[in-house]
Amino acid sequence: MAGTGVFAEIIDEEVFKYYSEGEWMKSSSGKSVAIINPTTRKTQYKVQACTKEEVNKVMGNAKGAQKEWAKTPLWKRAELLHKAAAILKEHKDPIAECLVKEIAKPAKDAISEVVRSGDLVSYCAEEGVRILGEGKFLTADSFPGHERNKYCLVSKIPLGVVLAIPPFNYPVNLAVSKIAPALIAGNSLVLKPPTQGAVACLHMVHCFHLAGFPKGLIGCITGKGSEIGDFLTMHPGVKCISFTGGDTGIAISKKAGMIPLQMELGGKDACIVLEDADLDQVAPNIVKGGFSYSGQRCTAVKVVLVMDCIADALVEKMKASIAKLTVGPPEDDCDITPVVTESSANYIEELVVDARKKGATFCQEYRRESNLIWPLLLDNVRPDMRIAWEEPFGPVLPVIRINSVEEGIHHCNASNFGLQGCVFTKDIDKAILISDAMETGTVQINSAPARGPDHFPFQGLRDSGIGSQGITNSINMMTKVKSTVINLPTPSYTMG
Ligand code: G3H
Repeated sequence: MAGTGVFAEIIDEEVFKYYSEGEWMKSSSGKSVAIINPTTRKTQYKVQACTKEEVNKVMGNAKGAQKEWAKTPLWKRAELLHKAAAILKEHKDPIAECLVKEIAKPAKDAISEVVRSGDLVSYCAEEGVRILGEGKFLTADSFPGHERNKYCLVSKIPLGVVLAIPPFNYPVNLAVSKIAPALIAGNSLVLKPPTQGAVACLHMVHCFHLAGFPKGLIGCITGKGSEIGDFLTMHPGVKCISFTGGDTGIAISKKAGMIPLQMELGGKDACIVLEDADLDQVAPNIVKGGFSYSGQRCTAVKVVLVMDCIADALVEKMKASIAKLTVGPPEDDCDITPVVTESSANYIEELVVDARKKGATFCQEYRRESNLIWPLLLDNVRPDMRIAWEEPFGPVLPVIRINSVEEGIHHCNASNFGLQGCVFTKDIDKAILISDAMETGTVQINSAPARGPDHFPFQGLRDSGIGSQGITNSINMMTKVKSTVINLPTPSYTMG
């Protein structure tokens, strides 16, 4: 159970503590933030509402601890990360339970998230040892007009304090995808968990605590974004921000100082289906891509662009696939579970109502009970409907019928988002040409969009983000280049 066993020290009087100076603490504010269970809509957990002074303290500690950490041998940093990964996996059950209660993640997916996170941390430790242990050696005489009298040694050095802000839908996995690269690269880390998912994050941080990282190196601040959000993101101690989430990321990027930003801000991932695609393979693949975790993934299929001549057949097969989805509580491991908040459910409903008004075909009856929305396929969606462009982040998938590949590519590229896209066809040459034409960070050929495996580069264009993630890219992004130039006497060419 959450907050018991090895996790008992992270909670007091039913309020989970925040993490500072290597200890679990209660905020001096005396206030807490309630975490509402999306299924019961009742308060499930409470976390500390930290103050700005506490943010300052955590930042100061992280700054101090980083100096020593940067001098810690790379193999030792890797060793600690491996240890944290093992502890995380060992305690997957209580952490997964938090994910079920806080964000209504289906039970099996919750376990997978924690296991995937442990694997990510271990992979990051290994990759870090490989890429950070290498540098470059340059000589001056490769540039016109220069002699071989200068040697340049190039290495990677840490940035300082990295601020990590993960989203509600992967609070553990998308937290460690920021924490592990930051730490292996010699940075310190301040984590601001999302409200829904905060308790899972605190448990995960405790696994790092148990692994024995130096005091102050990792801090975890909980509280209301409206109270400490700007203060954290504009804090002069922060030397890099890695954020995953919604529009807030755009606001952060406008306010942040002259520091590297890694932002992943959602997508309207389009799926183009050509005439020759194997519809028996395509239909279940799109349904899984569109409806897993009730569509609350930035990489979920968010619009299907299908050639008109096969649209009826595809829609029928998708309807059959959707009919097999189970709907209910996350504890029962249902495919479709309540969406994260009431306001999310209301927003999804707005898009559905708009689509109904403008004439979309409902392939199932629209059904909602509290935060639980039954899976819905909307056919004959047209560009004047909001659902054609907006990201519902819920179990509603629009189908737009197209008459040419160009029409599909045009729709994809006209979106404000540019995260991922996919194309289904047996014609690989055509698929590659379409991939080249789709303006998204990734195009999947013959499969729905997905971030993983976690070492693949992951990036969005336009409003989908800044920078590239994936383990190697994150390590590189959380370091800067340092050159040391050795100046030698000019060599003489006259021999003897
Ligand atoms: O929601 C955004 C995540 O990065 C999606 O990750 O493709 O593994 O579900 P996923």
